[in-house]
Amino acid sequence: MRYNNRLGAKGWVIGGNYSIERYLYILHRVSGLALIFYLMCHLILTSFRIAGAPTWEAAMAFVSGPFFKVGEFLVMCAGVYHAINGLRLIIIELGYCIGKPERQEYPYTPSIKKQRPLMYLLMLVVAALVAVSVVDFFIM
Ligand code: HEM
Repeated sequence: MRYNNRLGAKGWVIGGNYSIERYLYILHRVSGLALIFYLMCHLILTSFRIAGAPTWEAAMAFVSGPFFKVGEFLVMCAGVYHAINGLRLIIIELGYCIGKPERQEYPYTPSIKKQRPLMYLLMLVVAALVAVSVVDFFIM
């Protein structure tokens, strides 16, 4: 049977009755792709070293402005978020912090709520690390 993906990429955002975990997953995907993009740019940029010191210094001067500083900060945020949220996904996928299976009786309670304390805790860790990065990048 052919699955008809009617919503396409719009479904990432407006596919139905999404909860916060769905949006965290979309952010996980976007941050993962952004990190791959950064990795490729980084490899291309550092490969300019092979063309000699003047080319390398010109390349370094090109990426030393405020635009690239903000870009590096965003890479930091993407890395911090992806790593910590990835840890959350690994913990949950291994079956921890999701409660025990139990007989369902009406009114049913969604099991997603049992994962929430871990999610709030790890998002606080993300916020704390991003705050430290703000100080390190822009204040100190
Ligand atoms: C501490 C480092 C990292 C951890 C713990 C981590 C964890 C994870 C996990 C658990 C997944 C699978 C999510 C799932 O389907 O349940 C994932 C997906 C992914 N990761 Fe990472 N990751 C890390 C670093 C990176 C880096 C450095 C990159 C890129 C250079 C990256 C790119 C991706 C991409 C593109 C996906 C696929 C997302 C998708 O299918 O939507 N990750 N990561």
